Amino acid sequence: MIPSRIIEKKREGGELGTEELKTIFGGFLDGEVPDYQMAALLMAIHYQGMGPGELNTLLDLMIHSGAVLDLSHLPGPRVDKHSTGGVGDKTSLILAPLAAELGLYVPMMSGRGLGHTAGTLDKLEAIPGFRTMLSLDEFRSVLEDVGVAMMGQTQEIAPLDRRLYALRDATATVPSIPLIAASILSKKLAEGIQGLILDVKCGSGSFLPESERTRELAVTMTTLANGRGVRTAALLTGMDAPLGRAVGNGLETREALECLAGKGPQDLADLSAALTGEMLFLGGLAETPGEGTRRARQALGEGRGISRMARLVERQGGDPRVVTDPSLIPSAPEQDVITADIAGFVKEVRPVPLGYGVVEMGGGRRRMSDEVDPRVGFLLAVRPGERVEKGDPLGEVHAANPDGLDRGRRVLREAVVLDSEAPPPPPPLIRERVPALG
Ligand code: URA
Repeated sequence: MIPSRIIEKKREGGELGTEELKTIFGGFLDGEVPDYQMAALLMAIHYQGMGPGELNTLLDLMIHSGAVLDLSHLPGPRVDKHSTGGVGDKTSLILAPLAAELGLYVPMMSGRGLGHTAGTLDKLEAIPGFRTMLSLDEFRSVLEDVGVAMMGQTQEIAPLDRRLYALRDATATVPSIPLIAASILSKKLAEGIQGLILDVKCGSGSFLPESERTRELAVTMTTLANGRGVRTAALLTGMDAPLGRAVGNGLETREALECLAGKGPQDLADLSAALTGEMLFLGGLAETPGEGTRRARQALGEGRGISRMARLVERQGGDPRVVTDPSLIPSAPEQDVITADIAGFVKEVRPVPLGYGVVEMGGGRRRMSDEVDPRVGFLLAVRPGERVEKGDPLGEVHAANPDGLDRGRRVLREAVVLDSEAPPPPPPLIRERVPALG
């Protein structure tokens, strides 16, 4: 089969068969199909989409391009969560130990930040000593001992996704529903899980800002995963403002630990409890998502995830004292409070400028090889809809040097939009639930 003929077929809206998909994607992984041909195919898929059969075959090829964990020896249900990415989203650090405390096994493989969104691995690495690059044997062993293990995707898991993702990032073909669905699920289904909750973000700070496409992505992923026997549901959640008050890796880790101790901001605690509740339900440990959420909320309020988090941190090489004393996470040398220069209502706290602001201050990546400074970021003092008087604090900037502080000041002023009129009440954080059978 000739790759250019396969690309042509997709370009014209045709449906690729199993052999055609194997030839071109398998050839790409083996180095026989060059990047330029794969880039052309990805663009054709971006415009023409994929049918359910094609998508299933692509997902198979991606999962089986690497190792698939067998964790069937564990004595409890194995459930994970995945978020499509947002600003200030630190729920993984809260729900993973909490769900383990409530009886689940959570084998979580996470990513790093790219673009305006941050990644769980960077947040965990803000804890002095914490190692996220584990071998699969170490990962299994932490999971068996603690009930939760958190690591980065290794070379062994879904290598085809790794190569495709790098090419998509460089060729503007990331925001394609079938390609996102196959990419996310290839990694998650290789974890050997039985249940999965997807937090699919919608709104200005998400990957796919239009709500119809967000819903389509959620339905595509839940249908695919349930079809493979992994009980999967999705929550469509708002990302029009950062989640919680902290943006920036170390600040977010501190906030997550405070939330685990029952002292987190309400939106963060609510979403973490809802996602944990869904995990309990999908793992068969709660009769309904609502019952799971009530148990998770109570456990969170009682600080029951704390000791599990301390065990996880210690087992993965980190300093467990930070869990009860988050102030041990290194803080930035330059800090300033930005105040309102007029009285009014907070119309918007825009996530995208804040996310890119962290990158500009050295706390995120322009390319995958960049080092991040976990100390920099923002601590917001206001939320959309709140009233402020002139001189009231809007938030703090945390920077590595005076230059970064100046940038951060400009970013925070641009991100917090004040208006003389009270804005309409914001929509609920959880917009919709896509249930386990699509
Ligand atoms: N996250 C992924 O892992 N893959 C995508 O394609 C988009 C977001």
